Amino acid sequence: MHTEMRPRSSLSIFLLFFLFSSPNIQHCGAANSLSADQALSGNQTIVSKEGNFELGFFTPGNSRNYYIGIWYKTIPVQTVIWVANRATPISNTSSAELKISEDGRLVLLNSSKIPVWSSNSTPSTSNSTVAVLLDTGNLVMRDGSNTTIWQSFYHPTDTVMPGCCLGLNKITGEHQSITSWENSDNPAPGPFSASMDPDGSNQFVLVWNGSEIYWRTEFWNGQYYPRIPGTKSSTLIKFTFVNNKQRTCGMYTVLGSSFITRIMIDSSGLFRQWFWVKSTQEWQTLFTIPWFQCYDSQCGAFGICDQKSPNICRCSYGFEPGSMKEWELKVWRSGCVRKTSLRCGNKSSVGGEVEDRFLEMTNMRLPANPQYWTLGSAQDCEQFCLNNCSCNAYAYVSGCSIWTGDLRNLEQLHDADSGGGTLYLRLAASDFPASSSSHKLAISLTLSVIGGILGILCVLVGLIWAFRRRKRISMAKQVEGSLIQFTYGDLQHVTKNFSEKLGSGGFGSVFKGTLIDSTEVAVKKLEGLRQGEKQFRTEVRTLAGIQHVNVVRLRGFCSKGSKKLLVYEYMSGGSLDSHLFRNNSTVLGWKMRYQIILGIARGLAYLHEKCRECIIHCDVKPDNVLLDSDFCAKVADFGMAKLIGRDFSTVLTTMRGTIGYLAPEWISGRPITSKIDVYSFGMMLFELISGKRNTAQSADGSENFYPYLAATKGIAGDIFSLLDHGLNGAADTEEVTRVCRVACWCIQESEAHRPTMGQVVQILEGVLEVSVPPLPRALQRLMQDQSRSCDHLSSSECKDPLDQSLDFYQQVSSHKGHMNLC
Ligand SMILES: *[C@@H]1O[C@H](CO)[C@@H](O)[C@H](O)[C@H]1NC(C)=O
Ligand SMILES: *[C@@H]1O[C@H](CO)[C@@H](O)[C@H](O)[C@H]1NC(C)=O
Ligand SMILES: *[C@@H]1O[C@H](CO)[C@@H](O)[C@H](O)[C@H]1NC(C)=O
Ligand SMILES: *[C@@H]1O[C@H](CO)[C@@H](O)[C@H](O)[C@H]1NC(C)=O
Ligand SMILES: *[C@@H]1O[C@H](CO)[C@@H](O)[C@H](O)[C@H]1NC(C)=O
Ligand SMILES: *[C@@H]1O[C@H](CO)[C@@H](O)[C@H](O)[C@H]1NC(C)=O
Ligand SMILES: *[C@@H]1O[C@H](CO)[C@@H](O)[C@H](O)[C@H]1NC(C)=O
Ligand SMILES: *[C@@H]1O[C@H](CO)[C@@H](O)[C@H](O)[C@H]1NC(C)=O
Repeated sequence: MHTEMRPRSSLSIFLLFFLFSSPNIQHCGAANSLSADQALSGNQTIVSKEGNFELGFFTPGNSRNYYIGIWYKTIPVQTVIWVANRATPISNTSSAELKISEDGRLVLLNSSKIPVWSSNSTPSTSNSTVAVLLDTGNLVMRDGSNTTIWQSFYHPTDTVMPGCCLGLNKITGEHQSITSWENSDNPAPGPFSASMDPDGSNQFVLVWNGSEIYWRTEFWNGQYYPRIPGTKSSTLIKFTFVNNKQRTCGMYTVLGSSFITRIMIDSSGLFRQWFWVKSTQEWQTLFTIPWFQCYDSQCGAFGICDQKSPNICRCSYGFEPGSMKEWELKVWRSGCVRKTSLRCGNKSSVGGEVEDRFLEMTNMRLPANPQYWTLGSAQDCEQFCLNNCSCNAYAYVSGCSIWTGDLRNLEQLHDADSGGGTLYLRLAASDFPASSSSHKLAISLTLSVIGGILGILCVLVGLIWAFRRRKRISMAKQVEGSLIQFTYGDLQHVTKNFSEKLGSGGFGSVFKGTLIDSTEVAVKKLEGLRQGEKQFRTEVRTLAGIQHVNVVRLRGFCSKGSKKLLVYEYMSGGSLDSHLFRNNSTVLGWKMRYQIILGIARGLAYLHEKCRECIIHCDVKPDNVLLDSDFCAKVADFGMAKLIGRDFSTVLTTMRGTIGYLAPEWISGRPITSKIDVYSFGMMLFELISGKRNTAQSADGSENFYPYLAATKGIAGDIFSLLDHGLNGAADTEEVTRVCRVACWCIQESEAHRPTMGQVVQILEGVLEVSVPPLPRALQRLMQDQSRSCDHLSSSECKDPLDQSLDFYQQVSSHKGHMNLC
């Protein structure tokens, strides 16, 4: 998604200085092949012709097991790139043998001469089959007619070497993927793997536990994968995507044969490219993916991830590491286990505290897939959770979310982060951190009892009411976590057969509906869907995990054949454009506008930087900002491109009426980053200031492009003349200036000059200062066309735009830690 994270050129120069000038060439006399009458045993090895790689038995880390592997012969740190018997170690090499069997396969026999691993190649009766270790690190088997019948590059373990193509063999139907080691002592397959997208699209995905995708490279764009940093303009390696009759796969090659590099997935799930630095004699990383620390399941069940902590994962009070040994190796997926098991309403015990209690954890990212219940109060929610033995936590945010089973993806957020909530984690009372006053307990018990009774009453009343209410609707099946899965019939009923249309956009029409508990919802009928059922559900689940106060929340969905519908929370305030541009609506006050602007900025910053999977909105405009009853702004209609299953360029061509908000790089077909949203956001800011569409007909019939006016005036200081006349000048000068400047920075032609949404939030919050923006070049041209010149502005304001952006960047960079883009 974001390809220009770090300056590439400096790295390339750095590399040029430190890289090998030429590979160490060693001729050590050892054979480079194994023929039918030979066997490899004990400490014997074979070495590739030029001496780059060696094959033989090895023992990883502190293990006492032996494995057949291939490692670099030229570097002192044993670095294994391939393992044969990764899951079937042998304990004694003295009479174990690697050999070519009579039917022409490569087999490993243990001391009892029992095969523990085999190449599974096509049997061949030829007695002249030979296994050759090549200087690329590839072990190939050739038969008597010198045809390659098997190669280790087609069966990689955790490492992709240059020239090894990862993907699908269309003839055999075999998928090549790499799978992490269990840990550094054990090469057995771990839970993380990297493979081509199982749905067949030309991108690579990182997968946890066989099916849970936690990262995507995004589609191959003909030259590189948009989300692999540094591959776009690398002078060191080149990615290629092969798609021919035999194979569809991705590979990379090294430009300049002297560069020693490998790409692998490690036991904590990181996908990394390493290169060997000769001068320091160590491996360094070129890229690491994901480049944020907290990703799905990294810390295991009940583990808490903390980006800011060097240890990354920790356990909550009352929990301890599931496997101390693994945690010491920095592999956290064993997660945390309870020190004391839950009482779970077991009132029979005498003495001590009886009930389980809840630990309040503030500023947490709430785990994915809660079950959502409409309960009246936080107490009801707590009681509801207490009453179910499998409930481990709850959170109460305008409704009751409970989590049963293992809690995953817990993340500790920090002050600057948005999207945090308070999670109540269930613990045995005895595990509670000290100072648990029994008084408080008594109160909370009483409260919960009262709450419980009230809750039950409410439920009863609700039930009676619901029964009375017309027909029974079978609904609200609590599947897919907090998401409600509806049948099409349910939604027909809920929307009174789609009678009240709220609006329609590029992706379908939206209807108002009312659930049986009288919750109002907005139901969107998707059109032009290309997504398969499974992919649709995956994307819907991802969308449901996106929860932020400034982002419209997905409540449910329906998927029946081609009928795909999404159910969102209903925003009674309607869309922002209806308040801004309609003549008959009351004028939004400046304070309100500022809050709305801040809300949108926070929502977008969350989508870009804080979500587990970063999301580019691609269609930021007032029509896609909804307001709730308190006029709190929420970003709507995000994630559509993925959901619909089209690539961005197709979405572009199908989008209507949004061209005024589109960033130049999109129009010119360059790859897009989250900065396109920043651009559209900037365009929208002008509309919020003026209360007019950017392109409006002026009285004399000519078209006025408002941002042009705003930018010039914003720089020249005559801002108030730009302000919505309806406000009668009632606005905070400083705020208007700030918004105007931010807007102008956001619409800079070069993405690099635009701030990130995170920076925008900081500027709007007053944390970061904003300098006078340069006039965006496109506007400048416009200005020149209209024979305006810099004469109107004072000389300091006429500074070269590039200088000024440098100023801005210097200012911004002094506030560290906020430059990490997604
Ligand atoms: C290989 O093992 C044999 C006996 O087990 C020993 O004599 C020899 O020195 C070893 N060679 C190397 C290179 O370690
Ligand atoms: C391996 O096996 C040989 C012979 O079977 C034996 O002498 C040797 O002690 C064994 N080594 C170990 C580490 O068990
Ligand atoms: C060899 O492998 C077989 C099958 O896995 C096993 O039963 C046997 O104990 C192994 N022998 C040795 C010496 O490890
Ligand atoms: C291979 O097989 C051929 C005929 O089948 C035989 O003549 C030759 O001696 C064999 N070579 C070896 C090394 O066993
Ligand atoms: C077998 O093929 C490889 C490459 O395909 C070639 O380098 C080698 O010389 C061939 N060997 C013979 C004996 O033809
Ligand atoms: C991992 O996958 C397996 C099979 O797909 C499933 O049964 C298991 O519950 C998953 N584990 C977790 C922790 O999600
Ligand atoms: C409840 O407590 C009794 C006695 O302390 C114990 O035998 C029983 O296993 C407990 N049940 C649960 C579910 O903890
Ligand atoms: C607890 O919640 C789970 C998940 O909703 C449900 O399957 C189970 O039946 C509930 N147990 C009780 C005792 O209510």
